[in-house]
Amino acid sequence: MFDFAGKKAFITGGTRGIGLSVAVMLAKAGADVAVNYLRNRSAADEARNAIMDASGGKEPLLLKGNVAKDDDIEKMFAEIGEKWGGLNFLISNAASGVLKPSAELTHHHWQWTMDINAYALLPLSRHAIPLMKGNGRIVAVSSLGSIRAFQNYAAVGASKGALESLVRHLCVEYASQGINVNAVSASVVDTDALKHFPNREAMIEESLQWMPAKKLVEPEDVANAIMLMCSDYTRMVHGHTFIVDGGLSIMLPG
Ligand SMILES: NC(=O)c1ccc[n+]([C@@H]2O[C@H](COP(=O)([O-])OP(=O)(O)OC[C@H]3O[C@@H](n4cnc5c(N)ncnc54)[C@H](OP(=O)(O)O)[C@@H]3O)[C@@H](O)[C@H]2O)c1
Repeated sequence: MFDFAGKKAFITGGTRGIGLSVAVMLAKAGADVAVNYLRNRSAADEARNAIMDASGGKEPLLLKGNVAKDDDIEKMFAEIGEKWGGLNFLISNAASGVLKPSAELTHHHWQWTMDINAYALLPLSRHAIPLMKGNGRIVAVSSLGSIRAFQNYAAVGASKGALESLVRHLCVEYASQGINVNAVSASVVDTDALKHFPNREAMIEESLQWMPAKKLVEPEDVANAIMLMCSDYTRMVHGHTFIVDGGLSIMLPG
């Protein structure tokens, strides 16, 4: 359905879960792919193999770095600039966060979560936009916690709210320069990230109970929406958050 031959895409947190699914789909559609990760080298090596399989042998750029650190972002973009000289798609997907009741959240927990999940989009965009040369897509990956409340999710939910607001503000600044900035948000997806939730089982159960679609969103469902946001079909979509949740957000009580 999508032909992205000749396009260059950078996916943060692109070695596992949703990010890997996006990277594989973009590679399958012909794009050159750069994937960022932070710690897990073996997942990065597996991701490289999966991307090469999908692309018919084209090697991705593997970029290690913390998206919360300006210096790391600068180094990653220096490599992209040197190897590619341009960029079409930035998928700001990497996330982390402290999952605790609000009474237990420290300033450090808050800052950590905000820096990775919200702040990172600022320097990532600042470096990406000049490489996009007046024609690019920025897609940030968000979650329903931006508009709904979940147990232990205060810091992450607030960071995703900030992220979606930043998306709207970046959109206003860059739409006239040929850059679309949007977010794709999802309900619970059973990736490695979910293993860190103290209330994982309850979240899955509650989602299934309320979701009209009665099945969990999968990484590929989110990746499909991101592909759409990178395509010409959405060339007039600016500053939106596209929700992939099987209808959950219109059904949750309260
Ligand atoms: N899973 C869900 O239920 C769900 C629902 C809605 C939205 N989302 C959003 O979808 C996105 C992806 O989530 P996921 O569940 O696919 O995550 P995941 O499976 O845990 O994968 C996280 C990826 O991000 C990388 N990463 C983590 N912190 C980083 C940092 N500071 N700098 C650079 N890379 C970093 C990881 O690298 P290493 O492997 O090196 O650690 C890994 O590649 C996130 O924005 C998340 O908020 C997830």
